[in-house]
Amino acid sequence: MNIAIDGPAGAGKSTIARLAAKRLGFLYVDTGAMYRAIALYLLDTKTDISDREKLKKALSYIRIDIAYEKDVQHVFLNLQDVSVEIRSEKVGNMASKTAALPEVREKLLDLQRDIAAKNDVLMDGRDIGTNILPNAELKIYLTASVEVRAKRRYDELIQMGGKPKLDVITKDIEQRDFQDMNREIAPLRQAEDAVLVDSSDMTIEEVVNRIVQLAGERRG
Ligand code: CDP
Repeated sequence: MNIAIDGPAGAGKSTIARLAAKRLGFLYVDTGAMYRAIALYLLDTKTDISDREKLKKALSYIRIDIAYEKDVQHVFLNLQDVSVEIRSEKVGNMASKTAALPEVREKLLDLQRDIAAKNDVLMDGRDIGTNILPNAELKIYLTASVEVRAKRRYDELIQMGGKPKLDVITKDIEQRDFQDMNREIAPLRQAEDAVLVDSSDMTIEEVVNRIVQLAGERRG
């Protein structure tokens, strides 16, 4: 069985998807981490992404692998575990930019479909229900208001010991939404057959329960 969860930055997809996958005994696949790993490489190598030839060449040097340790996904960039480095805002913003490039999406398409074909997966991203797994048995579009998403990200960064600014984070999220929803290739949008879940006024527990319940219904 395949479950697709799509939605904007900061909707809580990864936290919720991880917990729901655990309850269902599914593999949790965080596709954003794959885009982030590619972005990290392009940042580190200072690749000029406006130059198609340079981009293609850089991508040809990239190998992305996914492995699981105690149910936690680790992402490897050219055999190196980059799971921690890819979490910075800088990499996230670069990922949003580079994920709009067709060459980048093409590179990850087969990897994502292959994992879904071999396992019961709960896969989260932006175009999973619309593009990667159009036949997923359950599709969720998970969202929340910009204010709520910015506040969540803010709290997360505070917890990590950072000194974030709420207005900067709000602008970042708005910009990322715009980029993700308005790009030509695989833009973020709710699939016609996706269930809309707005988590603005829901706890994590409530959202997880809802997804597990929907999965149970679809499984029959
Ligand atoms: O954690 P957050 O929701 O902020 O982002 P993420 O899921 O880690 O993804 C980082 C960026 O990768 C997003 O802003 C998207 O532009 C891009 N992405 C994508 O285009 N398609 C996916 N399936 C997953 C991520």
